[in-house]
Amino acid sequence: MDEVAQSQDMKRLCAVSDIVDGKAMDFDIELGGIKRILFAVRKGDEVFVYLNYCPHMGRPLNFAPGRFLMKDDVEIFCAFHYACFRIEDGYCTDGPCRSSSLGRFETRIEDGEVFVGQTLEWPEPRTEEAPAV
Ligand code: FES
Repeated sequence: MDEVAQSQDMKRLCAVSDIVDGKAMDFDIELGGIKRILFAVRKGDEVFVYLNYCPHMGRPLNFAPGRFLMKDDVEIFCAFHYACFRIEDGYCTDGPCRSSSLGRFETRIEDGEVFVGQTLEWPEPRTEEAPAV
């Protein structure tokens, strides 16, 4: 199992069971020689992995380690100005960076283990001022 994943430049992130269903966790991991701060969201048997970098102002989405704001197991919020992203594809449906997307990583689950690989999408940072909160 590990040989297959590693031969395709994928790296083990965690076990699926390490993430509570409907919740997210952040991880520091080295991929291709580059340190990345990612987060993984679990929805049932699926896990989606994103760069922990809001396309609005480049902040992490969580407000503390392992603490993310979720909405009905469907969307995840940035804790700073409340941009709202779909869990399945990281698309921003509302907030100051609406229509942008989170940086998404190739993800595979094998025998209950989550592996991450190459970046599938990379966010375009927005430079507009955040709305007053
Ligand atoms: S930094 Fe995420 S919405 Fe502003």
